[in-house]
Amino acid sequence: MSEYTFLRGSKDWWRQAVVYQIYPRSFADHNGDGIGDLKGIIGKVDYLASLSIDAVWLSPFYPSDLADGGYDVADYRDVDPRIGTLDEFDQLVEKLHSKGIRVFVDIVPNHSSDRHVWFQEALRSPRGSKERARYIFRDGRGEAFELPPSDLSSHFGPEGWTRVPDGQWYMHLFTKEQPDFDWSNREVHDEFLKTLKFWSDRGVDGFRIDVAHALVKQLEPLPTRSSYSLEVMKDDGTDQLFDRDEVHEIYREWRALFNQYDPPRVAVAEAWVHPHRRPAYATTDGLGQAFNFDLLTSAWESAAFQKVIDDNLAFAEQTGSSTTWVMSNHDVIRHATRLVIPAGKEGVTFDAENHWYVNHRLDGDLDLAKGLARAKAATLLMLALPGSSYLYQGEELGLPDVTDIPSEQMQDPQWFRGEGKFKSRDGCRVPLPWSASGPSFGFGPGGSHLPQPQWYSRYAVEVQDGIQGSTLELYRAALSMRRTLIQGETLSWLPSPVGTLWFEREGGWSSITNFTDQEIELPTGELLIASEDISAGKLPANSTVWLKLS
Ligand code: BGC
Repeated sequence: MSEYTFLRGSKDWWRQAVVYQIYPRSFADHNGDGIGDLKGIIGKVDYLASLSIDAVWLSPFYPSDLADGGYDVADYRDVDPRIGTLDEFDQLVEKLHSKGIRVFVDIVPNHSSDRHVWFQEALRSPRGSKERARYIFRDGRGEAFELPPSDLSSHFGPEGWTRVPDGQWYMHLFTKEQPDFDWSNREVHDEFLKTLKFWSDRGVDGFRIDVAHALVKQLEPLPTRSSYSLEVMKDDGTDQLFDRDEVHEIYREWRALFNQYDPPRVAVAEAWVHPHRRPAYATTDGLGQAFNFDLLTSAWESAAFQKVIDDNLAFAEQTGSSTTWVMSNHDVIRHATRLVIPAGKEGVTFDAENHWYVNHRLDGDLDLAKGLARAKAATLLMLALPGSSYLYQGEELGLPDVTDIPSEQMQDPQWFRGEGKFKSRDGCRVPLPWSASGPSFGFGPGGSHLPQPQWYSRYAVEVQDGIQGSTLELYRAALSMRRTLIQGETLSWLPSPVGTLWFEREGGWSSITNFTDQEIELPTGELLIASEDISAGKLPANSTVWLKLS
């Protein structure tokens, strides 16, 4: 039994797991209404198993008015009828488990949807009522309370306060349809414990915690903020809005619940905090693991990648956790496109104004062949690293981002908020192509809720399945080989030419990446897998090779 197989069966299965993110509305549509559904996913479980992944993470599938792609949850313990039913959810979990695939669901504890029963009750109840105390309601300023309670902007705002008919205002860090909970209220804690128990009892193995650093806020005096940048976020646990030390008390309570299960439920925090504050989210008495998005925001440069890798392995060591790696997700430009966006027009940057990762608009032609080469090289490098890797649906097909969705078909609030200045996140959320032709390229028997470009046919699963040299087969081969190779959780750097990175893992295998546009000499060793065709002992430009060392 390989060390990895042993690990997969243990309570530490998550430490080096590969987790595949499914954005349910865009994965597979069974009933033909143009929106992906649980039955669609059930029909693709064999496909998921063929990828040798360890878990899937389902982005929100809960009832929602879709003000923010489902991150506006109207009921945390149900399934959106457009996506399925709780029975179907149980069937999905059972089927995934039968193939050895575990399941993460997304928990969105900072805010609900304004359609949530609690918010509706709050609207019907008077100021000062217990119903309003679950959210952050305040009187406005000005003679007639006509001014917001404080000068606060929001991520998708622009305003961070919205007025209700009786004149009070409520606070929201995201869209006005996403009112923030007041976590100083015990009822909110109990409600989320109930939700976590509900899904854990249904067999869910893990949770991805949305905006995990924002729950606890200091509301006296009310926060004023026009920027959410890390530059203005304090890094000592005393910031008014983010990353306050008290937030970890919540996660300690969650951990006590997770540990009542066998194996204990796991969690990964999405926390955009100062890097040295990240380990606090990954402690064994807290959530256990925290996302690092540092590769995702890195330039395609060996030195930048090496620093990110070193820093994050060190952070993980501080807490006894393992690190996470991400190249693509539902919020950013797919890496097959992002990695060739010319310097100065970075695809994803951390926006100083908004403390938010912003997808810049893409103008002009991009060298997508190079983008694909870099994406495959980056993925192979990532899969060789200690820690767990998060893949985003469609990256195994080498899908580029869709950069030309007509404005009137956009759905993302980031697009509307930026008035076209920022690229919408819809480009990475376009439904997957399963076949080269037919309605919605096999996504389902009907249409597609976001328009699919004609060139999608070239990337379809059907076109790549079983075809040597395809991106899909590269992912399959690398993921299954990874299971036989992984040992330990450390790496050692090996000397390599400028513009390359070479590291060795326990067990005597190594990964070398060429970040340059020129081929270089390939070190000697037994070739295990390569992201490009290898000939005459050369490591091609923008490629990664795994080598067994003698
Ligand atoms: C999610 C975004 C969402 C935001 C607000 C983020 O963490 O990934 O898609 O818009 O939280 O819930």
